[in-house]
Amino acid sequence: MDNRPFIVGNWKMNGLRASLSEARAMDRVVSRHPKVEVALAPPFTLIHPIRAAVDLIRVGAQDCHPEASGAHTGDISAPMVADAGGDFVIVGHSERREGHVESDGFVREKAEAARDAGLGVIVCCGESDKIRSEGKAEKFVIGQLDKGLPLTEGAAERLSVAYEPIWAIGTGKVPTVDEIGEMHQAIRGKLVKTYGEEAGSQVRILYGGSVNAENAAELLSAPEVGGALVGGASLSNESFGAIIMAAAAMEEAE
Ligand code: PGA
Repeated sequence: MDNRPFIVGNWKMNGLRASLSEARAMDRVVSRHPKVEVALAPPFTLIHPIRAAVDLIRVGAQDCHPEASGAHTGDISAPMVADAGGDFVIVGHSERREGHVESDGFVREKAEAARDAGLGVIVCCGESDKIRSEGKAEKFVIGQLDKGLPLTEGAAERLSVAYEPIWAIGTGKVPTVDEIGEMHQAIRGKLVKTYGEEAGSQVRILYGGSVNAENAAELLSAPEVGGALVGGASLSNESFGAIIMAAAAMEEAE
């Protein structure tokens, strides 16, 4: 079991082969900070080139289809991600749930397909500002996990959950450390209930939503935060490298 903070960059629909130099620069930062585990989820087109360009950074996909192959124009399956050199998949990101009308049940199918293909999985969850203002955030997020977490044999191994409040993604707004801590503790409770005490307490819970070099240390200090899922600030080594260094400084201070 890896207890290191897990810092994951989600490049979304950004990145061309010209970005390989950024990935190489990030890899050099990682080589100086072995106490932090770092991963990148570039667009599918860059999984193989980045895998070939870096030594230490893990590389994965932002999504996969639940089926291994078939008539699904434009989709990519989990075995294809593995074949391209990816070793994990993000499923259930709010931009997929909204833009591609993905249900919790579909997210579970994808997560289980990724595990079947031997990949690690990051299941995303998070509430809208409307749900939070109605005081229903925790119930909503636990409901998403209730229907979306993978349940197949060994599903908790190599699993992470990313809590990403939709209102914090790309907005510069972040929850307070107390709000993050409360939600992460509720998620931990759900994981223990789902997978049992031992397996459920080892799943890393990441925070995502406007993480940057300035706020990373504070957000990572919240209870039950085992890492971060970073969007915009993961695109350049200047900002992503600084987040990696902030996580490393916390580990080295312990
Ligand atoms: P952001 O995105 O860091 O740009 O807010 C996070 C995410 O959507 O994973």
